[in-house]
Amino acid sequence: MSTSSLLVDNIGELVTNGVGEGPLGIHRDAAVLVEEGRVAWVGPSAHTPAADRRVDAGGAAVLPGFVDSHAHLVFAGDRAAEFGARMAGQPYTGGGIRTTVGATRAATDDELRATVRRLRGEALRQGTTTMEIKSGYGLTVADEARSLRIAAEASGETTFLGAHVVPAEYADRPDDYVGLVCGPMLAAAAPYAKWVDVFCERGAFDVDQARAILASGQAAGLGVRIHANQLGPGLGVQLGVELGAASVDHCTHLSDADVAALVGTAQSDGSGTRTVATLLPGAEFSTRSPYPDARRLLDAGVTVALATDCNPGSSYTSSMPFCVALAVREMRMTPAEAVWAATAGGARALRRDDIGVLTPGARADLVVLDAPSYLHLAYRPGVPLIRQVMRNGVPQ
Ligand code: NIG
Ligand code: FE
Repeated sequence: MSTSSLLVDNIGELVTNGVGEGPLGIHRDAAVLVEEGRVAWVGPSAHTPAADRRVDAGGAAVLPGFVDSHAHLVFAGDRAAEFGARMAGQPYTGGGIRTTVGATRAATDDELRATVRRLRGEALRQGTTTMEIKSGYGLTVADEARSLRIAAEASGETTFLGAHVVPAEYADRPDDYVGLVCGPMLAAAAPYAKWVDVFCERGAFDVDQARAILASGQAAGLGVRIHANQLGPGLGVQLGVELGAASVDHCTHLSDADVAALVGTAQSDGSGTRTVATLLPGAEFSTRSPYPDARRLLDAGVTVALATDCNPGSSYTSSMPFCVALAVREMRMTPAEAVWAATAGGARALRRDDIGVLTPGARADLVVLDAPSYLHLAYRPGVPLIRQVMRNGVPQ
């Protein structure tokens, strides 16, 4: 962390997600003073305080670093052939997860570490300053514990997903596997995990199994998140709400009752819903599925986040700008809604108030775009628009 002060000056358009113009709290012709890794001051470029160092943004847009609240980075191998088959008409079922489990179990710690580092580096270069990382491709006590140990080397936001699928060796006794997850696996994983997650879906874990696993995780001190309603309708979203989940993720197939349950978590201070709907458009892109209806959720008042779901099966992208562009083009989100969801929304999905915003006291995690406005993230899809990234005020 930097101990000296740093002024990011000559910002044409500063997205604060705080007080300012429009839903993104924009300040024009602005500057940001960073001290001790935190935002110390935000104000007009014409009246800047003194600082030890200065970065000239050259009139470009500056926004909070992206907060990717859903990623599966601890794995080995890839599933490019499965992707190729899908693009030729095969459906996505999640059946390939076991292929990745086999490769992950066979990998060394250093191989897994190298993959995490490579994908985390990719994401950072695309503006992601916080990235949640899940286990879920080990599915033995030892392999889940080592997956989370390796994840924790790269992120403070780690999630135990021992209940990703039932591994082949438990195929004829799934309840024994649920017992393993709730007992010894959770005990081995919990020291490295902040969250517990379950893939609640036909072919993975049903709502009763998911409730048992999430409740065990909660009892061990972990926060709840859930993969829900991805491949078809189900009770996962409502279970997440029942358990006070920070986020219900995917939300591709929602009933009116699911939306009503989310709306029911609205906070009395008007700051949105306590349970966030995290939408993962990279998964719909890569599985050639219909996109979730973001407009329906937003119009109902549900807080929406965007994340990559980076994993070798359903969404092998680490790019938050790509997800922003997809959300705008395919999910009827405005560019402002998508940028908020990819920054402040992700922070809310992780129950963090120190990231996703550029207001005094927040962590100085920011990106300088190679563009004059946040609009360009959706307007110029696929173009590398991230000129500079800072974490804790330190240029990366
Ligand atoms: O979030 N749906 C469950 N898990 C991942 C996919 C994992 C895989 O296909 O390897 C997801 O999409
Ligand atoms: Fe996922």
